[in-house]
Amino acid sequence: MTEQVPFTDVYVDDDIVDSATEVLDSRRYVKGPRVEALEEQFADTCDVGHAVGVSSGTAALYLAMKAAGIGDGDTVLVPSHTFFATVSPVVELGAEPVFVDVDPETYTIDETDLARKAAAHEDAAAVAPVHLYGQPAAMGPITTIAERYDLRVFEDSCQAHGATYRGDPVGSFGDAGCFSFYPSKNMTVAGDGGMLVTDDADLARAARELRNHGRDADGNHVRLGLNHRLDEVSAAVGIEQLSHLADWNADRAAAARRYRDRLADVDAVELPTEREDASHVYHLFVVQVPDRDELRAALEEQGIGTGVHYDPPVHQTPAMRSYLDGVPDLPETERLCDRILSLPMHPRITDEEIDRVCAAIRGFYE
Ligand SMILES: Cc1ncc(COP(=O)(O)O)c(C=O)c1O
Repeated sequence: MTEQVPFTDVYVDDDIVDSATEVLDSRRYVKGPRVEALEEQFADTCDVGHAVGVSSGTAALYLAMKAAGIGDGDTVLVPSHTFFATVSPVVELGAEPVFVDVDPETYTIDETDLARKAAAHEDAAAVAPVHLYGQPAAMGPITTIAERYDLRVFEDSCQAHGATYRGDPVGSFGDAGCFSFYPSKNMTVAGDGGMLVTDDADLARAARELRNHGRDADGNHVRLGLNHRLDEVSAAVGIEQLSHLADWNADRAAAARRYRDRLADVDAVELPTEREDASHVYHLFVVQVPDRDELRAALEEQGIGTGVHYDPPVHQTPAMRSYLDGVPDLPETERLCDRILSLPMHPRITDEEIDRVCAAIRGFYE
């Protein structure tokens, strides 16, 4: 049988099992000390004043926007080359997404198109840049544009735990940063979970209330809210995972270097570009290739798992199309769709596995 090269991997060791078991034994499953401890540690990692544990990355984005007052009739500038959940909270809140193209080199929001669309939608309320694949968006120019047009900034950091831009952690630039702890992410709670980080004490308080039935610290229902809490077992796993994050990000970067080295002379393969003023944490290693679907099938036949992130882009999904007034002009987003391929990437991928993937790609194009 061909040996498999898995696309991703989730790390579970005895420490993780023990800390989850401790919570199960304690009978304290929600609103407990582990969520608070993870919040404190995550706030330190992001160098911000507040962190609010929530039930998913989607919930973090939704609650951040809602806590900041985004709602009916507002416009939010968003990329379409991203996961659906960057945009769905905007629509759920009754706001209108205006799609911005991405830079084909970094895959993050294109500053020139952002400036153009911010000028064309002067009443826009916010922008949601995405640190896609683990690469920080250009937060310097984005912040300048946001200040000029008075935009709130919600950083979708769901793929970029521990990444930095000009030395500062992602999530610390905007009004709020939103992280996912889904199993494939750079750190996980081995289930669903997320974190909202912010330096804005009022936004943090509103998000805490909104995640817990609109209750304030005294337990009064002071606003409408649903249940978007993170639970104690998840937080216990998250604390263990966070302690490995820096090492795992370094292992991902080392894997990326080996891919670059082994694929450098395969002309058909366009390797991902790293921003010079940022650290890329390689949630995904995404190359551009011709004949993507054929290559993907050939790799699959050899037991090599791959992914496509994202095709179709959000604006072309059936769910989103019905909310859009017209067809947005996003040439780079559309050009990327049938060229992008995500290669196996996780901290425990071996040199031999990377070499096998690269040999298979080389074989396909020879
Ligand atoms: C860019 C991006 N945004 C938002 C999300 C939503 O996170 P979750 O799956 O935890 O709701 C994800 C992860 O799936 C993501 O990759």
